[in-house]
Amino acid sequence: MKAIIGGTGVDRISHFHSESKEVSTPYGPVELFVGSGEHSSLIFLPRHGSSHSVPPHLINYRANISALKQLGVDELISIYAVGSISDALKPGEIGTLSDFVDLSGGGRLHTFFTGEESGVKHVGMDEAFDRVLTASLHAEDPSLKKGGVYVCTNGPRLETPREIRMFASLGFDVVGMTAATEIALAREVGIRVASLAYSINWAAGIGGADVEFIGDEEIGRLKDRMISLCLKVLGE
Ligand code: HPA
Repeated sequence: MKAIIGGTGVDRISHFHSESKEVSTPYGPVELFVGSGEHSSLIFLPRHGSSHSVPPHLINYRANISALKQLGVDELISIYAVGSISDALKPGEIGTLSDFVDLSGGGRLHTFFTGEESGVKHVGMDEAFDRVLTASLHAEDPSLKKGGVYVCTNGPRLETPREIRMFASLGFDVVGMTAATEIALAREVGIRVASLAYSINWAAGIGGADVEFIGDEEIGRLKDRMISLCLKVLGE
C-alpha cells in the first residue's frame, strides 16, 4: 500500500475515490481515507484532521504513522506547507526535501522506541528521504525544485526575524512545524518517504516587515499539481 499525508491546504483531495475509515492504534484512533476502485492501493491521511483542527505540536504523529503501518503502507509521499528562508524554494514553488533539522524542542511524542516492550533502538537517519522515490518525483515533473533542508520548529507560533536569520546562517532553506517528527517516525517503522514542500510565504524578516501568505487560489493550484504528481508517482 502507498500513502499521501497532506497538511495545510491539502486536507482533502478531489477525484480520489475513497471511504473514510477510523483506524484504532495503540496510540489512539486515526481518521483516514482508503482508496477504492482505481485507487484501491492508496491511502490519504490529513495530518491536521479533515477539518484542520489539530495544531502541529498536538498532532498524534505516532497514531498516524502506526495506522499507516497497520494498513500495510511501505511508501509515503508527505506534503508540507513551508516558509522560505533561501532562494532554493520561493513562495509559490514546489520542491522535494533533501534533509531535515529537528528544532521542535523534544516535547513531542516523537518515537516508537520508548524502552520496555518497545525496546531501545536508534534508527539511522543517513537517508531520511528515500532517494529512489524522490528521483521519481523529479523524473515525473522536471520543473520541481530541490527544496533543500527543512528546519522543524515546534509552533504554532511563527518564528522571530532573528530566529530566521540564525536558520539562514546555518544553511537551512525552508521552515515548517511537522516534517521532522513525522518522517522520523515513518523511518522507525521502515516506511520509505519522499516529501513535497510548497512555500506559502517568505519566513519572518525576509520578505518585508510582516509575513505575508500567498492567496488561497494559488494554494489550490499548487495542491492540484502536487496531488496529480503524487498519484502518477505512486502508480495510481
Ligand atoms: N514558519 C513555520 N512554518 C510554516 C511557515 C513559516 O513561516 N510557513 C508555513 N509553515
